Amino acid sequence: MCGIIGYIGDKQALPFLLDGLRRLEYRGYDSSGIAVKNGDIRVHKRTGKVADLESKLPKKIEGTCGIAHTRWATHGGVTNANAHPHCSEDGKIALVHNGIIENARMLRNRLEKEGVKLRSETDSEALVHLIHREISNGAKPLTAVRRTLKRCRGTWGLCVIFEGHDKIICARNGSPLVIGVGDGENWIASDTLPLQALTQHVILLDDGVLAEVTSESVKTSRVDGRSSDSEVTTLEDDWGEAELGDYPHFMLKEIHEQPEALRQCLTGRLDLKDGNARLGGLGLSSKNLQKIPYVRFLGCGTALHAAQVGRLSIEQLARVPALAHVSSEFRHNDPVIHSEAIHFAVSQSGETADTLAAVKEIQLKGGDVRGVINVVGSTIARQCGKGCYIHSGPEQSVASTKAFSNMVAALSLFAIQIGRARSLSRAEGQRLVRSLQEVPQLVEEYLADPGPVKKVVKIVKNAKSVLFLGRGISAPVAREGALKLMEIAYIPCLAYPAGEMKHGPIALLEKGSPVVVVAPNDSLKDKTISSIHECRARGAKIILIHEAGDSIAEEADISIPVPSTDPMFTPMLTVLPLQLIAYHTALALGCDVDRPRNLAKSVTVE
Ligand code: G6P
Repeated sequence: MCGIIGYIGDKQALPFLLDGLRRLEYRGYDSSGIAVKNGDIRVHKRTGKVADLESKLPKKIEGTCGIAHTRWATHGGVTNANAHPHCSEDGKIALVHNGIIENARMLRNRLEKEGVKLRSETDSEALVHLIHREISNGAKPLTAVRRTLKRCRGTWGLCVIFEGHDKIICARNGSPLVIGVGDGENWIASDTLPLQALTQHVILLDDGVLAEVTSESVKTSRVDGRSSDSEVTTLEDDWGEAELGDYPHFMLKEIHEQPEALRQCLTGRLDLKDGNARLGGLGLSSKNLQKIPYVRFLGCGTALHAAQVGRLSIEQLARVPALAHVSSEFRHNDPVIHSEAIHFAVSQSGETADTLAAVKEIQLKGGDVRGVINVVGSTIARQCGKGCYIHSGPEQSVASTKAFSNMVAALSLFAIQIGRARSLSRAEGQRLVRSLQEVPQLVEEYLADPGPVKKVVKIVKNAKSVLFLGRGISAPVAREGALKLMEIAYIPCLAYPAGEMKHGPIALLEKGSPVVVVAPNDSLKDKTISSIHECRARGAKIILIHEAGDSIAEEADISIPVPSTDPMFTPMLTVLPLQLIAYHTALALGCDVDRPRNLAKSVTVE
């Protein structure tokens, strides 16, 4: 969602701001803007892409202090006026804000009554006028921001610059903000990605904290006036490149990074000798694992689908009940929390507001929750304290691909670990560990020869709707395939457990309706064949994802084989053609693959 980048130092701010905006594009946005201070403050903002903003900028914008923003509309439509930065009436203060000010209506009404002419429909604009009022009453910038925030309810990650002051005031509450620490220069950003090429030293601001950032110093304090630590964290080198390289889109790049991503996730975690997995960061001993009454997962979108795969593996290997919940529902359904149960928050970004809220709800009720997260140091990872990083490397395409595979891999590791602590034999553990170790190679083999994906595109690209079917562990894979195609090609997609098809979706089938069936060679295959027959009898075209060498291929109109593996690990292979079908269909329809309309990469509002 909305992104922030700020710079203060001895160099020109503009190149940092524009580069930062480009690196933030992946989060999803509909307008962007910059404010640069050089004596006075100059603001440029507009709807559309960062490239549109850049093309309309004056030739020279000088200044060594500036802030910039990508906006994803929440309060107010997609207009130039609603784009950030927002300015005080005299133009001497500029502000960018992520998050939602819940009492904005009341604050805006009061400001209007006092004669302030509001120029946008946003909640954020109220903040800059309130700050201006404090400054007019003689307050220093930090105090002005602090007093303003004390009057606000809601969430914020914000940066403010002031004419006449060489500093940026920033604050965080519920919307991430990171300060990149340099030598004689500092940056501020809404996530670490735009900072990666600039510095490894960062200060991850906590909720309720304000920072006064100059080119030489960062001073933090809490909004309520208490002191706050500004501990500098050194970011580890991420294995992945945040650049596009030779690929036309991040989605395709990330699909092809899956073999390496999986290796990064599995490395050092497989114990071939004992047939076990090592996930030290979870902090769970065999004794703990034996006592767990049940396991629960929370996630949204792709993360939820990975959790649904994980829960089935756990039930199968550990014979312990496991459930996967939509984070937003879980949190609002007043869940019963068992203090000995284990909860996992699954999230690529580690910032998804619904999942974070679910984590806090569990913790409030005395529950134990661990993160299964990609982004190191993200809010959910820090809130959980313990967990397991999935090590996918930076994922920038809104449509998640490599994070899904790595979440499944990480949860497979956990399934083996809890299985071994309970009833799973050493021999069976060894067999599974060996099989899991081979998966990256199998993924590589499939991607080198992905089969007739383009033939599938011809059938689905003009379809009214596409039905995805799978059973058991392939049911969440079918859901993931449907989500991918819907997200980036805007085709209505339905995903059903194959057995449920006859209870409703069958009504949609007519001559030529595309049905994508995920049917690996597991114990449920024969039942899935019956579902295929039911579809064919209604004229449907069957696109079948199956294991290479399996005679089920005869059931297909278009057959896409993937390499064979243990039934439990098939999701990491069967998902690949589904990702490619979505990618190539979106491309054929001229859609913006990496930045689908209305969606955001990290959804930081509830
Ligand atoms: C958004 C994205 C999805 C993603 C979901 C959960 O909806 O568009 O691709 O799966 O958020 O994100 P998370 O970062 O928590 O995995």
